[in-house]
Amino acid sequence: MSTGLQVDSAGRLRHFLDVAGLKRQQLVEIMDTAESFSEVADRSIKKVPLLRGKTVVNLFFEASTRTRTTFELAAKRLSADILNLDVSTSATTKGESLLDTLRNLEAMHADMFVVRHAESGAAHFVARHAAPHVGVINAGDGCHAHPTQAMLDMFTIRRVKGEFTPLTVAIVGDILHSRVARSQIHALNTLGVRAVRVIAPQTLLPPQIEQLGVEVHHDIHEGVRDADVIITLRLQRERMDGRLLPSKHEYFQLYGLTETNLATAKADAIVMHPGPINRGVELDSGTADGPRSVILQQVTHGIAIRMAVISMVMAAHTGETTE
Ligand code: CP
Repeated sequence: MSTGLQVDSAGRLRHFLDVAGLKRQQLVEIMDTAESFSEVADRSIKKVPLLRGKTVVNLFFEASTRTRTTFELAAKRLSADILNLDVSTSATTKGESLLDTLRNLEAMHADMFVVRHAESGAAHFVARHAAPHVGVINAGDGCHAHPTQAMLDMFTIRRVKGEFTPLTVAIVGDILHSRVARSQIHALNTLGVRAVRVIAPQTLLPPQIEQLGVEVHHDIHEGVRDADVIITLRLQRERMDGRLLPSKHEYFQLYGLTETNLATAKADAIVMHPGPINRGVELDSGTADGPRSVILQQVTHGIAIRMAVISMVMAAHTGETTE
């Protein structure tokens, strides 16, 4: 579904909606482009003129700290103009449809929509209905996909570990409701890691998750044993229907990442989390702030990855290169 909509006949990224369906080379190109942009952060004037005169609109219909702000910084560092639509005070609260909102923003000559929405498929819907000159980036849709998060996670892993093929990656937590986990699993398998494990109680795993190419574990000590990378995930209570867990305290006892259960991982294993973190629920403070944690590096890398994706999608619409 995604590939036809997001990649044009020349293989360029017209929209960035999902990691699923993209080829290894396309994921590597995103990371290589991000690598070339990461030095912009070290300049005294943190800007390149690539997207001067272009307008990017952040359309966030769901709460966000990291994704919204790093998209904003990424667009600014590319010299684009950026609008942050405040959905709580926008005309959608007066009954205006999403399509009418889009048409009005297009009438203001928007060139790109960055969309976060609680409904799975929302960014695809926007991409299908946007004007042909407008690129769309998925900033997280329901439980479905969060492709720029997955790519900044891959970029972080590549920066620390170098190669993907020898790696065992363990993802711990609420897989059932996690758009991040779905996108990470697709990206890790496409990049050819040795193994992807998911660790969760049965109630927080989607049915037939094995079909995505993962090993399932219910015991965290076994799940993280000899792992190179451990990704912890937040319990997404806003998406939970009914009681899937006994209590946060009991969840932490069984599935929280601590120095004790981390001891079974490789000595140089890294700890990741897409944020927001809940200390004492999915991991303890010693682990979140400890020497193996790359959680804040993930946030920094989000800017370069989003600069890469914005510039690549914009280039597919203008025929220019990202160089
Ligand atoms: N990781 C992530 O998507 O964080 P935000 O919800 O703060 O954007």
